[in-house]
Amino acid sequence: MATKTVLITGGAGFVGCNAARYFRSHNWNVTVLDNLSRTGTENNLEWLRDATSFDFERADVCDRATVDRIISAKHYDAVIHLAAQVAVTTSVTDPRADFMANALGTFNVLDAVRRFSPEAVVIFASTNKVYGKIASAVTELQGERYGYADRPYGIAESEPLDFLSPYGCSKGAADQYTLDFARIYGIPATSFRQSCIYGTRQFGVEDQGWVAWFTIAARLERDITIYGDGRQVRDVLHVDDLVRAYEAAIQSPDRIAGQAFNVGGGPKHVLSLLDLIAMLEKRLGKKIPLKWEDWRPGDQRAYVSDIRKLETELGWKPEIDVETGVVGLIDWVDEERELFVEAV
Ligand SMILES: NC(=O)c1ccc[n+]([C@@H]2O[C@H](COP(=O)([O-])OP(=O)(O)OC[C@H]3O[C@@H](n4cnc5c(N)ncnc54)[C@H](O)[C@@H]3O)[C@@H](O)[C@H]2O)c1
Repeated sequence: MATKTVLITGGAGFVGCNAARYFRSHNWNVTVLDNLSRTGTENNLEWLRDATSFDFERADVCDRATVDRIISAKHYDAVIHLAAQVAVTTSVTDPRADFMANALGTFNVLDAVRRFSPEAVVIFASTNKVYGKIASAVTELQGERYGYADRPYGIAESEPLDFLSPYGCSKGAADQYTLDFARIYGIPATSFRQSCIYGTRQFGVEDQGWVAWFTIAARLERDITIYGDGRQVRDVLHVDDLVRAYEAAIQSPDRIAGQAFNVGGGPKHVLSLLDLIAMLEKRLGKKIPLKWEDWRPGDQRAYVSDIRKLETELGWKPEIDVETGVVGLIDWVDEERELFVEAV
């Protein structure tokens, strides 16, 4: 079988470098495109270079001519589009930069695929934020954690879209462009509405990547602030499971083209802030001091993805249980402690 080629934008980021390594280990040719704007990306690239060979393009997805040059240079079987401004908080302070990277950047990638590589499967890393507050969902305290009283399987793709925050709008626009390019131009493109993804090589900060941030902060003895009561819940998906879902989607273009999928750990893989603190305390063998603040505006008590559509269409399901995944993350932070002293 001929070797296949994938372009991974944002390939030096957390999800991207894990995806690049996975596809290389499955004998794909990999091109990584990244502008290296995120802290930790140089280190991720070094890690990838130590492990394998790949092409690297230092480029910005906002630059149309460069995106055109890269996408027209080779035959790509797949494009995994991850490059993005990823923090809601940053999108509020600089909405133009957020729009450029997320909305225009995605448009540039899609439009280049349309013109130069229309058979490439495109996976756009969208977000559960496209559903906004989901005000109609009823949340209640269920034991030690919040959960939905009325949505036992979580939030499905049928939930109305309600873009909230500049990040929600820019990713939401990109999500809809992706689906429309599939409808109008026949590109096998899909929007993966990702929930909280965690795992090694995530340089989490307080504003984004909370599982990694808590772990790094606990290890470096930085302050951890809990906003609210700490019982808020997210479904979490290990990055290795996410990358397998990308692979499954690429292998079944007919089943994913023009479709949006909620991609997360689902109801079987949920974690509250306090659950994570308890796991960290157990593993690190010490009490973690916490600072407490009031709920922030818009903080959701619960978000859990309904992942049945992806399970049904692709026969995929998350395999890494939360405890195993979190322990792996803690061990990585422990081993690479020096990295974080500079990075966060
Ligand atoms: N990690 C999560 O929990 C999560 C959840 C939902 C959606 N997502 C989406 O998944 C994707 C990957 O997320 P991640 O956690 O790996 O983030 P990340 O910040 O680690 O990776 C994003 C990468 O994009 C690069 N980048 C940023 N702007 C760019 C630009 N204009 N041109 C080229 N490269 C640029 C950064 O340098 C970084 O390497 C993002 O699109 C994000 O919105 C992530």
